Amino acid sequence: MNLEEEYSKLDDPEVLKFIDDNLHTPIPDLVLKGSPFKAIDIDLLINQIVGKKKARKKLPTWYKNEKIIYPPKVNLEQTSSEITALHKAKVVHGSSLIDLTGGFGIDDYYFTKKIGEVTYVELNQDLYNIAEHNFKLLKVRNISCFNQDSIEYLQNTQSIFDWVYIDPSRRNKGQKVFLLENSLPNILNHKSLFKDKCRNLMIKTSPMYDIEMGYKELFGIKELHIVSVKNDVKELLWSIDWREKNSKVIKMYNYDEENKYSVSKYDKDQTYSNINVEDCQEYLYEFNSSIMKSGLNDDIALKYKLKKLENNTNLYTSENRINSFPGKLYLVKNSESVNFKKLKHRYKNEFTNLISKNFKLTTSQIQNKLNCKIGGDTDFLIFTKTIEGYKVIEASKL
Ligand SMILES: C[S@@+](CC[C@H](N)C(=O)[O-])C[C@H]1O[C@@H](n2cnc3c(N)ncnc32)[C@H](O)[C@@H]1O
Repeated sequence: MNLEEEYSKLDDPEVLKFIDDNLHTPIPDLVLKGSPFKAIDIDLLINQIVGKKKARKKLPTWYKNEKIIYPPKVNLEQTSSEITALHKAKVVHGSSLIDLTGGFGIDDYYFTKKIGEVTYVELNQDLYNIAEHNFKLLKVRNISCFNQDSIEYLQNTQSIFDWVYIDPSRRNKGQKVFLLENSLPNILNHKSLFKDKCRNLMIKTSPMYDIEMGYKELFGIKELHIVSVKNDVKELLWSIDWREKNSKVIKMYNYDEENKYSVSKYDKDQTYSNINVEDCQEYLYEFNSSIMKSGLNDDIALKYKLKKLENNTNLYTSENRINSFPGKLYLVKNSESVNFKKLKHRYKNEFTNLISKNFKLTTSQIQNKLNCKIGGDTDFLIFTKTIEGYKVIEASKL
């Protein structure tokens, strides 16, 4: 039986119903019961169930198509989301792009919407088969797929590409890794090959990857994008152009549920003066996660004329409200020294939200002490260290 016949068994209405009915069944139960369909392996059904569940939010276009084939969970975890794939497609331009780490093909699907001819290369045969099948299903015509080592492919091709894209595998011998030297392929070993074969290079690295290390290990950096979705850093994207000299321009994006984003741009090369520290004023500010990852929070706070609560407390304050602030903004109602007895009296069984920043207790330890309930839209108790010692700040989120 060829692969298309194998995949087509999953299109059967009864099979599709079984998958939908079991989206919330614990996986061990499914394994125990086994496949109710003689010709379909339970592992294949589990991949579809796990894949569909994950795709609902992460990959809505794939989720809408019942016939999409999903890879095992371990591969699905490594794919880009639709939002971040769309972001990358906005960055690239030109007529040719090669993806050296094709995977499930999410990034490439969006690259094909922007670039004339996309080349997908993937080492893992099962993933390659699945991606190729799905590209056909999604009617992608301007893509060529190759199941081989992409470094060898690049070494042997005569083509020069407008872009090379690499999202190296962050699993090596079953272990999760985040350093470039441990990711696959090890791109640090092939810098001159990339330089010979493309005009622009885009490298995706883990959110855990150290930015300063990136500036040391890579070269020709034109721009770094720090991409967050709902205030969670998802990707660091390094755009490299050999013709330009290294630049430390960082763009920090934060996408919301509706794919709208805010962006801040900064040049890390410029030098700024030190930020002033001051006790809590009328407004309190917490930067979004992309800005925190950039390490430019103090510099950006200076631009907004903010003060910091304490050298190691990443909360900022001002007398005037700054609506364009890239992050969360609170109106301060009260700020005082922490007295748990008094706070318990006031908040026992009441709803509030807790934040612990540079404070000796975690939010769950604080909740245990206060016996409060967590919830409510705008009320916050912020436990933190200020220039005047440990404080609790009562505030409303604006
Ligand atoms: C993080 S995943 C890519 C995910 C992809 N960007 C997506 O959105 O679906 C990395 C992929 O690179 C593949 N890979 C690693 N080394 C490779 C090599 N030398 N040649 C081709 N593919 C490779 C892995 O098998 C894995 O599927």
